[in-house]
Parts: sequence; structure tokens; C-alpha cells
Amino acid sequence: MDDDFRLMCAPLQGLTDSAFRRFHTSLAGEGVEYFTPFLRVEHGDVRRRDVSELAVSHRDGVNLTPQVIFRSADEFTMLVDTVIAAGYDKVDMNMGCPFPPQVKKGRGAGILMRPDVLAEVAERVESYSGRVSFLVKMRLGIDCADSWRGVVELLNAMPLDHVAIHPRTASQQYAGEIYYGEFESLAGELRHPVIFNGEVRTPGDIERLRERYPFIAGVMAGRGLLSRPTLFAEYRSGQEFDAESRRRAALDLHRRLVDEYASTLCGDTQVLSHLVAWREYLVDYIDRKLLKQMYKAKTLEAYRQALNRAM
Ligand SMILES: Cc1cc2nc3c(=O)[nH]c(=O)nc-3n(C[C@H](O)[C@H](O)[C@H](O)COP(=O)(O)O)c2cc1C
Repeated sequence: MDDDFRLMCAPLQGLTDSAFRRFHTSLAGEGVEYFTPFLRVEHGDVRRRDVSELAVSHRDGVNLTPQVIFRSADEFTMLVDTVIAAGYDKVDMNMGCPFPPQVKKGRGAGILMRPDVLAEVAERVESYSGRVSFLVKMRLGIDCADSWRGVVELLNAMPLDHVAIHPRTASQQYAGEIYYGEFESLAGELRHPVIFNGEVRTPGDIERLRERYPFIAGVMAGRGLLSRPTLFAEYRSGQEFDAESRRRAALDLHRRLVDEYASTLCGDTQVLSHLVAWREYLVDYIDRKLLKQMYKAKTLEAYRQALNRAM
């Protein structure tokens, strides 16, 4: 597909790490845009693990934008300076995280209700002008789907590359009605390019979104892309891959992740607990009994044996 419609892999904490991004790039081909799960300040400092992940992806040459989550302009600056020091010139601002502990502290979707903080952050954004480009990933509100109205002018005043919108409230977490009407209203008020994020699972979903919203600059897929890692490659090729090719690609990606974690994490228990989050994304490809065996495995060897049988 030779148009400039943008295809983005949503950040998922604990899943779309540097290893996933490297292996997925080789599967999806050039042009897919990746975002790190949010970098955060903990006990007054940026988490070291997040910083080393940035360095790995920089070496791998992945098209990556680091994401930051912040409760104040000072946290924001600390995180952006860390991102710059790691060699990046793009920053994704998280205004959508729904986890109550973060939201309560005013981070993620919490920032939608704190225009005073956002105004200070906007000044900091200005101070990085010419050095860093910024973008936003947001929800519509915390409890109400029209809370975005309180921040849209501030967003319009900032020089943003784009705004990715997941048209749900934070209280909905990751399920329930998508507020298409509010999405349209917000997109209509924004002067920035808009990316649609939410429940994009098949190439047909992307086509339908483009037909319905010809103004969108791209789509971002999270869970749909983890369940169907070939999604963007299929969309680009203009044709769905057959079930066997999709299965092989998904399981091969999983096998590569297992090998990577086995060589970088410490001991079977750590590796196996890291793999737990993947279970729900394998259900389409692995027979239920075998999947149960994999996730009951006490050793990495037993996990691998079950995975090999599935392949
Ligand atoms: C386990 C999990 C972790 C997530 N971590 C992040 C994150 O670090 N930053 C972020 O902006 N969104 C995060 N999200 C939200 C996704 O990026 C995405 O917006 C959401 O899943 C909706 O898109 P989807 O329907 O394509 O999955 C996370 C979602 C899940 C399920």
C-alpha cells in the first residue's frame, strides 16, 4: 500500500517491550510506528529499567517514540530530558492511562481533569521547540465521555505531531461502548492529525474506519495486533493471509520472545511469569488443553515442549 496512512502499534505495559518491537518490525516491515509503554518517575527518579529499554530499541533502529506519564510539569521535564539523553527527539504524552492509582495522582487520564497542570506542561513543550516533537495519546475523560472539552484548546495551542484517541473513558478500562459520536466531536475540534485507537483487529476494521472517517491520519492497534501480529502486513498487502500463515507467524513470534527472555531474564520463574501476559493472545492458535499445559508448566523446558507441540 503506497499511501501515507499511518500504522501504529499501541504501547502495552509488560508486552510491547524492546524484544517484541524488534521481532515485530521484522514481521511487519518498514513504516510501522512503535511507542514504549509509559516511562514514569518513581521515588523521585526515572525508572532505570525504562531507560535501559530505550537504549536497546535505539540500537535496534526501531521507529520508536518513547511515551511519558506525568503528574506535574517538573515530572514531565525530568522524563523528557531522559528521553532526549537516550537519543530520541519525539515524545508521546500519556493522557489516557486508566489505572486508578495513576489517575488518582493526576497522571494519565487524570491530566484531563487538571487543565492548570496541562497549561504548565504546554509551556515546557514550547521550551523544547525545534528539539523535540510531541504527540498525545488520550481518552475522552475519566467518568464522562465529554471531559476532553476542558483541555481541547490547550491541546490545540501545542505544536503536536498528532493526537491518538481511544474513545472510551478511564472508568471503562478496556471494554464497553466506544463513543464514536464523541470521537467525531473531538476530532472535529482538534487542529492536529487524528489517529483512531480501539478494537482494531482485522484489515477489514482498518478499511471500515477509513471509510467512515476519511479524515483520520492513521490507526493504532494494541490487543488486536498482539493477537494477530500479521495485521498490518496483511492490510498493506491488500489481502488477508490464510489462517495457517497467521498461526505460524504468531507462534514464531512467540517462540522468539521465549528465547529472548530465556537469555535475558534470570531463571525459569522470572521467564514464566513474564510470559503470563501473553496467554490471552495465543488462544486463537493453540488448543485449549495445550495452552493450559503451557501455563501450568513449572519449568521453561516444559513450557517450550508444549509450545513446540503447538507449532
Ligand atoms: C495490558 C495493557 C497495558 C497497557 N499499557 C499502556 C501504556 O503503557 N501506555 C498507553 O498509552 N496505553 C497502554 N494501554 C492501552 C493501549 O495502548 C490501547 O490504548 C488500548 O488497549 C486500546 O487499544 P486496543 O483496543 O487496540 O487494544 C495498555 C493496555 C493494556 C491492555
